[in-house]
Amino acid sequence: MGDTIKDVNKILPDAVRREHWDNLFRSKTYTDVLWHQTTPAKSLAQIERFSGAEDAVIDVGCGASLLVDNLIAKGYRNLCLLDASEASLQIVRDRLALDADIPDYVCSDIVNFNPQKQFRVWHDRAMFHFLQEATERQKYFAVLHASLLPGGTAIINTFAADGETECAGLSTIRYDRERMAAELPEGLELIEAEDFVHTTPRNTEQNYAAFYIRKTH
Ligand SMILES: C[S@@+](CC[C@H](N)C(=O)[O-])C[C@H]1O[C@@H](n2cnc3c(N)ncnc32)[C@H](O)[C@@H]1O
Repeated sequence: MGDTIKDVNKILPDAVRREHWDNLFRSKTYTDVLWHQTTPAKSLAQIERFSGAEDAVIDVGCGASLLVDNLIAKGYRNLCLLDASEASLQIVRDRLALDADIPDYVCSDIVNFNPQKQFRVWHDRAMFHFLQEATERQKYFAVLHASLLPGGTAIINTFAADGETECAGLSTIRYDRERMAAELPEGLELIEAEDFVHTTPRNTEQNYAAFYIRKTH
């Protein structure tokens, strides 16, 4: 991993992106990756602020995060996990080992996702900031808009303006309020932004920004 992948990052086609992330999730213990959290408290609070347990929630670029375990423990049942990496979804399937048909698993690049229903909350922690091309980001927001119920909320967590410039061997884009607002198409409104700190499993700190976006029409 590293330089070779980083060099092609700007022209990363779906299959390469998927292979990159599959390799990562197959070669590392998911609890060791820098973005891992033992308790995803920030994301839980964000989702609970904008939804109730009866609402439909999608976690895009879910990875092998423990967020879904925590949401299920809180009574959420209408959950969709989307990731480009089948390997990450398999880790979650094996860990949850539920007989019930929850959550829905979708293995897809976000830019190709064709939602079959709409969600009250769209949650993204550390996925959007990998999208290097403006056309990909436009597709991301078109998919997001189609996926949200009217009045629904998207929560997008990215590296902050003073945050990391790469992660998992890939370049990342850093966002502040102005930069995120400039990305939003008609029908999506940035209602709030805040910076926060993530303490990694190595006890280092990473600066993140959270963006709360409402579907207005
Ligand atoms: C840094 S990890 C974050 C995982 C999880 N959200 C968390 O907080 O633990 C980024 C995740 O986004 C996924 N991903 C990256 N680009 C993607 C894309 N274009 N479409 C769907 N998933 C993507 C990766 O496979 C990986 O699981």
